[in-house]
Amino acid sequence: MKVAVFSAKKYDREGFSQWADSSLQFTYIDSRLSSDSAKLAAGSHAVCVFVNDDLNAAVLQQLSEMGIEMVALRCAGFNNVDLDAAKALGIRVARVPAYSPEAVAEHTIGLMLCLNRKLHKAYNRVRDDNFALDGLLGFNLFGKTVGLIGTGRIGLATARILHGFGCRLLCHDIVQNPLIQELGGRYVPLAELYAQSNIISLHCPLTPDTKHLINHYSIGSMQDGVMLINTSRGALIDSKAVIAGLKQRKIGYLGLDVYEQEADLFFENLSEQVIDDEVFKRLLTFPNVLITGHQAFFTREALQEICQITSDNLLAFASNTATGNELAN
Ligand code: NAI
Repeated sequence: MKVAVFSAKKYDREGFSQWADSSLQFTYIDSRLSSDSAKLAAGSHAVCVFVNDDLNAAVLQQLSEMGIEMVALRCAGFNNVDLDAAKALGIRVARVPAYSPEAVAEHTIGLMLCLNRKLHKAYNRVRDDNFALDGLLGFNLFGKTVGLIGTGRIGLATARILHGFGCRLLCHDIVQNPLIQELGGRYVPLAELYAQSNIISLHCPLTPDTKHLINHYSIGSMQDGVMLINTSRGALIDSKAVIAGLKQRKIGYLGLDVYEQEADLFFENLSEQVIDDEVFKRLLTFPNVLITGHQAFFTREALQEICQITSDNLLAFASNTATGNELAN
């Protein structure tokens, strides 16, 4: 089966060469999938895509007209795919629901610790023979209240680590996870989570209900100096409202691995270019903001799982069997 792999990076090529079954023939395409690049999939049976590839109804229509019958997502989130359009066109969609929740959870904790203990500043200072501690004062995580919004796989993995740190866990989800309660986590309404949490971490998917969940109103109901972490999807946060919250000192720390307009920025080396995004550039001016470029998933273990499960999904499609990872049939 011929598979057009969009947004292909060196590590995708290496990963698939190691794990793919020989009956899968991959063609690697550097560009993101969009209405402009869709034609590059001509002659393939399936497309393999990542978080910033755009599979809106028009793109899916183009793919369908070229005979594409399957979309294999090499990620967990699927907010970039119009599933209704895929269904209507008879395009099967499968994802990798749980390649390594721990990879994302550990990065989440990394952002919390780095922001709190100012490790990024300490690294530079010590290299400059500056051993002064002024400005590096942190706080103990032990005993702090952490609010987790979304307690699925990644939220739970994050909760486990925070439980180990001795944090009090307040959680919010549309479905309660008994494993959270075993850790001593308590489900509360969002208003209570916002009001009581020293740290708030987002682990729910991007849906019409969760878009701009963090906005002027919700930020206003948070504790002064709150730490806000988003390793889920950029549009959960209204970036302009967050900038206002930082300026008012309401938000004391901001850690992001995702950004609403990241599709134009992330996964590329733009260091020689002028970045034409005033909101992103403003975020980078704050000393208490730490941004990573959608790398929370990026561990050896997670990449191996992604390539393995994506290959399994493609092979299942070729043999007309199910894996349980299908989103649209
Ligand atoms: P999951 O499906 O296991 O858990 C998501 C949880 O969010 C579920 O418990 C669900 O009930 C809950 N939820 C849904 N709507 C909600 C709402 N309106 N309010 C509160 N909770 C709600 O997904 P998983 O694997 O934990 O991933 C979470 C998100 O993390 C993904 O949707 C994806 O966007 C993001 N992600 C980010 C990565 C990165 O590299 N930064 C890598 C992998 C995932």
